[in-house]
Amino acid sequence: MKATIAVIGGDGIGPEIVGAAQKVMEAVAAKKGFSLEFKPCLAGGAALDAFGVPLPQETIDICRSADAVLLGAVGDPKWDTVEPSRRPEKAILGLRKELGLFANLRPIKVFAPLIGRSPLKESVVGGTDLLIVRELTGGIYFGERQEADPADPAASAYDVEAYSAPEIKRILEVAFKAAQGRRGKLTSIDKANVLASSRLWRGIVDNMAADYAGVQVEHLYVDNGSMQLILRPSQFDVMVTNNIFGDILSDEAAVTTGSIGLLPSASLGSGTGLYEPIHGSAPDIAGQGKANPIGTILSAAMLFRYSLQQEEAAQLIEAAVERVLTAGHRTADIAAAGDTPVSTEQMGDLIVAAIKEA
Ligand code: IPM
Ligand code: MG
Repeated sequence: MKATIAVIGGDGIGPEIVGAAQKVMEAVAAKKGFSLEFKPCLAGGAALDAFGVPLPQETIDICRSADAVLLGAVGDPKWDTVEPSRRPEKAILGLRKELGLFANLRPIKVFAPLIGRSPLKESVVGGTDLLIVRELTGGIYFGERQEADPADPAASAYDVEAYSAPEIKRILEVAFKAAQGRRGKLTSIDKANVLASSRLWRGIVDNMAADYAGVQVEHLYVDNGSMQLILRPSQFDVMVTNNIFGDILSDEAAVTTGSIGLLPSASLGSGTGLYEPIHGSAPDIAGQGKANPIGTILSAAMLFRYSLQQEEAAQLIEAAVERVLTAGHRTADIAAAGDTPVSTEQMGDLIVAAIKEA
């Protein structure tokens, strides 16, 4: 198996966590006899510094021709005041759009050895294992937008939430199929009591449910859904929702597991897939070796699974992560009182060692 992986370290902690994940991928490649070629490219604040744009055409081209993209994080407060079209976040939004990555999979699973690190009681968080399927290239993120000057007393700004039936159908298809391959339950999250776009969404879910007889479908309004996520996260199997609700709910769901630093994601469409941890660039701890690389390392596992069709390689990484956590190794975000945290690099190396030993 030969593959080319575009690698975007990005900003903040991005380069550190991606560095650790790359070493893990190399260890897997050595073990399995794969040949991986990494192609580093720039995006976000790093690209703004170098080229004056957040997403250079060269980066888009490299990503398009690669078999998969591994991304750390983008976003740097240094660029908070640039005009909105040049913000570092535009890089990730642009990549999602350019690569047609309409389906974002965010699996959220509590690791048994970390259950005590959850902000929720063990009795509440135990058994949590859900998959958020987030629509990623539509809705309010990409709808018509009007910026406005806060200094203008008559200013008015807007962002339009618009969804077409085909956009809704293709993300629901991903979600229904995922539910079929898991525990057979699909929760669709919307705000159909208020929003027209949600009423269309809900109607299409109901129409499609007939084609997926084995899947039990329920609808929740997003306010109730966000409450249910902390009341009883284990009730969910697959949760499907629009772009903005998925953004919000995935952070909430992630932290129930103890740390957002643990959670991976895959963004899929018709072409190259993109893999990134669900957290941001954490500029406050950048360059200090404090970041948890596990979210990125598990994203690399998803890369092997979905883009390279190497399920065994994916499981090798996931088992190594479990083993290292079970052995008690902790980065600062998941350390309990009395634990001596390991650095980003050390955590990566421990996982590499576990892969070699497997
Ligand atoms: C995420 C992030 C992005 C989003 C930002 C960085 C634009 O929060 O992937 O969840 O809002 O989609
Ligand atoms: Mg987010």
